[in-house]
Amino acid sequence: MQDINEIIESEVKRPSVFIDESKLYPEYVPDKLPHREEQIRQLTRLFKSIILRPGTVSVRTLLVGPIGSGKTVTSIVFGTNFSRLAERKGVNIRYVHVNCSKSKNPATIFREIKNQLGLNLPDRGLSATELGSALLKLLDMEDLYLLVALDEFDYFLRVSKPDDRYMIVRFYDVFKTGVKRLNFIYITRGTPTYISSLVDDITGSYLMKNIVMFNPYKSKEIFDILKTRAEIAFYPGVISDDVLDYIANLVGTDNGGDGNARKALAVLHAAGKLADKEMLEGRATRVTIDHVRAVFSREYPSLINLIDTLHYLPLHELLVLKAIALAILRTGEDYVPMGVIEGVYRRLCSEIGEEARGHTKVYTYVMDLRHRGIIITRSNIKGRRGRSTYVSFGAIPLNELIRKLDHIISSKRLIQ
Ligand SMILES: Nc1ncnc2c1ncn2[C@@H]1O[C@H](COP(=O)(O)OP(=O)(O)OP(=O)(O)O)[C@@H](O)[C@H]1O
Ligand SMILES: [Mg+2]
Repeated sequence: MQDINEIIESEVKRPSVFIDESKLYPEYVPDKLPHREEQIRQLTRLFKSIILRPGTVSVRTLLVGPIGSGKTVTSIVFGTNFSRLAERKGVNIRYVHVNCSKSKNPATIFREIKNQLGLNLPDRGLSATELGSALLKLLDMEDLYLLVALDEFDYFLRVSKPDDRYMIVRFYDVFKTGVKRLNFIYITRGTPTYISSLVDDITGSYLMKNIVMFNPYKSKEIFDILKTRAEIAFYPGVISDDVLDYIANLVGTDNGGDGNARKALAVLHAAGKLADKEMLEGRATRVTIDHVRAVFSREYPSLINLIDTLHYLPLHELLVLKAIALAILRTGEDYVPMGVIEGVYRRLCSEIGEEARGHTKVYTYVMDLRHRGIIITRSNIKGRRGRSTYVSFGAIPLNELIRKLDHIISSKRLIQ
């Protein structure tokens, strides 16, 4: 049997592409938030009156945006920095982050706030109203103000009773106190229209007064987020900008992705893990685009479902797709120009005795493949002269794709 210490030591010494993998964990809170400066600015403008005139008003804001658009992390980073600044200015503000999918009603929300503050408040058997009042009394005693973030608040809106909703959204209409110590950041996934569809008009107008919007990230923005994280997570030189750019193009909303930063970071992390595994087998020294492709197809089988779509595409569109895959494989480039693709396509056609379609038709096929999210296109590449359309493949390892395509193409030709 192997010595335990030996096992541990050899694992610790094992080569890795990571300096610190934890910097890619979803719960890691970075100190830089590229492309969320405007949201931080808006939040500061909304909440600054708490520092300037503490207790005079209770500020409420609604953060709205799709999955992985940085709502939670922005709220945490803003809240902690804002309360630190307030403290330097002599105002005692604490930031509390409550997840409403765990704390589903006012009583559990108040209890959670109290627990996070470490306040000594007996809560057994108290009603929500009693708990709320007791909490306010304690805050008075400690001269403490709160910034309460209620995360996954759309969930609360969907499951709560009207009275409970009223208590949380119109807190100071229920708890009528002179000094207002509670301020709220309601965090919701979706769009403003969707959120207002969950509530009645009056609650809606209360919630919608101060909206901070989070749009899904564009490729360029995802790239910057990945870059700042990669710098602290990987050893220098093991991951190139091209790899980050590739992930950014898969995920960015302007390239047909959903703009979800969590997904982009998860792919980056998993690609690093795969590179580590291959490093041990002596097959890799750095993270490559092929690692990304492999991870993406494994982690996001929905993309693989695209293969189902392939069955519905016309024969020549499939041939163009095969030409793209072949051209990328043969040239070893991540992006290939249209001209090369057309050449390969024409050769493929003549091999199987099909008459090749003209340039315009091929171009429409490429655009259709792009709209379906199967491929990625770009109109220029650094270091290459002239404007042309360059194409790259989105999801799965190319050999696997070519195998699938061959299968579908031959069955299509049989039916024809
Ligand atoms: N601008 C950014 N800079 C750095 N990291 C970011 C940025 N935006 C998001 N992230 C990271 O991406 C992940 C997802 O972000 P976050 O959890 O804030 O999204 P969300 O909008 O709350 O999504 P959900 O609706 O699923 O709760 C987190 O790991 C977060 O740290
Ligand atoms: Mg969130």
